[in-house]
Amino acid sequence: MEIGYQISNIQYPIPMILITGAAGKTGRAVIRALNAKRQAVRALVRRPEQVQTVEELGAREVLVGDMRHQATMDQAARGVRAVYHICPNVNPDEVLIGQTAIAAARSAGVEHFVYHSVLHPQTEAMPHHWQKLRVEEALFESGLPFTILQPAAYMQNVLGYWERILAGGIYPVPYAIETRLSMVDLEDIAEAAALVLTEPGHVGATYELVGAEAMSQTEVASIMGQALGHPVRAESVPMKTWARQARASGLSDYQVETLVKMFQYYEQYGFHGNPHVLGWLLGRPPTTFAEFVARAW
Ligand SMILES: NC(=O)c1ccc[n+]([C@@H]2O[C@H](COP(=O)([O-])OP(=O)(O)OC[C@H]3O[C@@H](n4cnc5c(N)ncnc54)[C@H](OP(=O)(O)O)[C@@H]3O)[C@@H](O)[C@H]2O)c1
Repeated sequence: MEIGYQISNIQYPIPMILITGAAGKTGRAVIRALNAKRQAVRALVRRPEQVQTVEELGAREVLVGDMRHQATMDQAARGVRAVYHICPNVNPDEVLIGQTAIAAARSAGVEHFVYHSVLHPQTEAMPHHWQKLRVEEALFESGLPFTILQPAAYMQNVLGYWERILAGGIYPVPYAIETRLSMVDLEDIAEAAALVLTEPGHVGATYELVGAEAMSQTEVASIMGQALGHPVRAESVPMKTWARQARASGLSDYQVETLVKMFQYYEQYGFHGNPHVLGWLLGRPPTTFAEFVARAW
């Protein structure tokens, strides 16, 4: 694939942005947001069958490989202006993967490393959050110009239950329905990612990205009911039932155990953030949950 364009017979390289984990739901949203800004993207995907997906979203170059391997990451980072690093969700090797990406970015001399972290990585009780804190620490010590984005739980997560919500009016959650959680629209996160990757002034920043004040699951269900025009009821699913279903759907033991810890933490403490930083970055109020449901519907 072409990676140069010509103006007055002089070859200028196109400044390229590498996105890792590019075929996942976060990666796809970030490719779309960068494509809307006419930014050239190099996508790192794991499987050949994911190449077409990211090309259709606008990726200029696609590399197939395993991000745990230094040689793959070195090749992926070579010649790019910036890296947007997305680790696969709930991955036991997140620290190694982060260190590998950082080392590759250093060798390639990239100008900007943006890390897709999570809200409250300081929480040791949630192992995948804690791993992200270690990657943030490695980034501080790397000498790379960095920006860290810390998104709350995506509003899009409710779509995993969409059929039950639409057909039966039930919103099942593996914690108490009074549990209060802050969420954020993944499309807002992708827009914020594209902003920090393309506008000056974000190096050295760590941004908590939250869409709305924390809501109970009863409130979440009620908002869905209003948008859909029929009642939706939040229902607490016993953790053992959730874990059995999660294993049957293909999640590994590590993923199930880690997510159980996260749900237990949510139930005990909630998960609270503040939307001001995201509103400031986007220059508009973040998408509300009601707006998200209306769009999804
Ligand atoms: N979901 C949320 O609410 C939320 C909130 C805040 C932060 N986050 C963070 O956002 C990040 C991305 O989440 P996501 O749900 O978009 O991820 P995802 O859907 O798991 O996507 C990750 C992508 O990486 C690929 N991949 C897996 N292992 C790989 C490897 N060894 N080498 C190369 N590629 C590999 C996957 O390919 P396969 O399809 O082959 O597996 C997948 O396409 C996670 O770190 C998560 O913690 C999520």
